[in-house]
Amino acid sequence: MAAVTNSHPLLPARLAVVIPVYREAANVGPLVAKLQAALAGIAWEAVFVDDDSPDGTAGRVREIAARDPRIRCIQRVGRRGLASACIEGMLSVSAPFVAVMDGDLQHDEAILPAMLAAVEQGADIAVGSRHVEGGHAAGGFSAARGALSDAGTRLAQLLLPVPVRDPMSGFFLLRRDLVEQAAPRLTGRGFKILLDLLLTLPRGTRVVEVPYAFRAREHGTSKLDATVLLEFAGLLLDKATGGTVPLRFLAFAAVGAVGVLVHMLALSLLLGALGLGFGAAQWGATFVAMTTNFVLNNRITYRDARLKGAALWRGLVLFYLVCGLGAAANVGIAALLVRDGILAWGLAGAAGALITVVWNYAVSSTLVWRAR
Ligand code: GDD
Ligand code: MN
Repeated sequence: MAAVTNSHPLLPARLAVVIPVYREAANVGPLVAKLQAALAGIAWEAVFVDDDSPDGTAGRVREIAARDPRIRCIQRVGRRGLASACIEGMLSVSAPFVAVMDGDLQHDEAILPAMLAAVEQGADIAVGSRHVEGGHAAGGFSAARGALSDAGTRLAQLLLPVPVRDPMSGFFLLRRDLVEQAAPRLTGRGFKILLDLLLTLPRGTRVVEVPYAFRAREHGTSKLDATVLLEFAGLLLDKATGGTVPLRFLAFAAVGAVGVLVHMLALSLLLGALGLGFGAAQWGATFVAMTTNFVLNNRITYRDARLKGAALWRGLVLFYLVCGLGAAANVGIAALLVRDGILAWGLAGAAGALITVVWNYAVSSTLVWRAR
């Protein structure tokens, strides 16, 4: 009988590799082959966390998993988000060490054994780094993306308790018990899961950076877009204020402020260019502003629970109803406060508006988007 080595596929894994994937069907097979080659001699498993990609990514993973018990798939339906996918993946494993890497072949799997060795020898986190001696970022980034990444890195370094050259890396390895310790305090929003972890773990966390060259993408496209930048700002704000500012509410209020501008613009257009009477113009402007707010909230505030298809239209109608009630409450409360001489009209108006925002937010979160 052949000797059982520690790389036997059915032995409990020592290293679990968590791979967030969205529309990466063409990359799954090649990545598994690369892991197999890079991790020879280590008992490993890989968990792909897919957000119900329309290109059949989860199906590709299951095909391979049917032949290889080291491969698993977590398929999340109706949810989106790189950071939250990584957290769920990391919490789903039992291996003593866990790594996170992108599923698009941009991260170099060949450094995983060196990262594991660093953590086994006492580091808390090993970070695959493009910014230490021997590492390169140029291969995988356009000039504009590179500049953006550098600016974000500098901003993040201001807040970091420990110096890390590449805190924006999506490629790292750590002890699983540290994940469990940090999990309740992670924001779980946006793209920057490592930064979230680094800002959450206690001072004195030992970070080792292992250089690698960021590769160019061959299949599929990057999912980083403008709202990812907003989420990055949100993450820093959340950590800088110790989590006291409810980020989703801030985003909702900011969208509401944009809505006021849209309302005034629409009102002046309807009054001026279209020559409507004030009442009709006010109704029209309200409709335009509510619609804009709904679209922006769906894209930004509730990005992780974004509505699509039929649910989008149902949500829009519900949103009109919620905001309509909110507006009625606004007018009613302000009128009462003024009538009873409790507040002057300016303060009464502001109080009415505040109550409306809170109402709209509370009901939208629970009924329209059903977000956490
Ligand atoms: N499950 C899930 N859900 N996966 C996602 C989502 C999502 O909403 N968005 C992106 N992914 C997956 C992608 O499929 C890919 O495997 C990985 O997360 C990284 O996404 P990319 O869209 O390729 O990001 P990038 O290359 O622009 O940036 C990445 O690399 C940088 C360098 O390490 C990210 O990891 C950045 O955080 C990182 O700084
Ligand atoms: Mn990528």
